[in-house]
Amino acid sequence: MLEAREISWIKDHKAILHNIDFHLFPGECVGLIGPNGSGKSSLLKILAFLETPTSGSLYFQGQSVPRNVTLSIRRRIAIVFQEPLLLNTRVFENVAIGLKIRSLPKGEIRDRVDFWLEQFGVGHLSKQLARSLSGGEAQRVSLARAFALEPDVLFLDEPFSALDAPTKEGLRNDLGQVFKSTKTTTVLVSHDFKDISHLTNRALILLNGQVMAEGSPSELLKEPQKEEVERFLAHFSS
Ligand SMILES: Nc1ncnc2c1ncn2[C@@H]1O[C@H](COP(=O)(O)OP(=O)(O)OP(=O)(O)O)[C@@H](O)[C@H]1O
Ligand SMILES: [Mg+2]
Repeated sequence: MLEAREISWIKDHKAILHNIDFHLFPGECVGLIGPNGSGKSSLLKILAFLETPTSGSLYFQGQSVPRNVTLSIRRRIAIVFQEPLLLNTRVFENVAIGLKIRSLPKGEIRDRVDFWLEQFGVGHLSKQLARSLSGGEAQRVSLARAFALEPDVLFLDEPFSALDAPTKEGLRNDLGQVFKSTKTTTVLVSHDFKDISHLTNRALILLNGQVMAEGSPSELLKEPQKEEVERFLAHFSS
């Protein structure tokens, strides 16, 4: 579905990512985990075509991705960031906007928006102004907006990190249910191993812009592969 080969990214004379190989098969959720500044968001932005790598190649659905990514490729992915980026309109409009841009029929837009708001437990907020939502509600709306696009690949960059613990746990469970039923192909960035072990089949551990380990969450914990990885994972083993 998506593959990156030997990706490096140098920005302002700083090496941010070094020689990264990555692949994503249809239906899997792959995690990117690492400490602050390890390059998780940078890699996610490159994989989601928001930044261009200095060297290396990207392949999307078997095709080499050109440097100037076409709109038709961009429209097949969706991204959710840590801070929900909502427009100052009603919740319904926020979720509908991407579908309007894609010229879907009005009836289908209504059905899809209603369905996805319900899936994330915020159907009752449809008419509320997005600005007046709580942080947890806003992030649920952002996720509904991304899923409503039915993207081929979904990118989630720390979607829970602005939420308090119980809110986070509720949303993580709901997202897990949605993954189970939709099998949406996803890249999930988190610095919390609990998110990774709940939601992903496989994860890559990034340290200093390099992939230091890769495997299923349980394999990573059992066999950390390198001393630096063991040190990083030790934070989560209590
Ligand atoms: N556009 C940019 N220009 C210059 N440096 C950048 C740019 N984007 C990221 N960096 C640098 O790259 C490094 C990795 O940043 P990145 O945001 O990818 O880390 P992260 O793992 O997502 O961290 P966090 O957990 O804090 O979100 C940091 O040192 C950051 O300052
Ligand atoms: Mg980040």
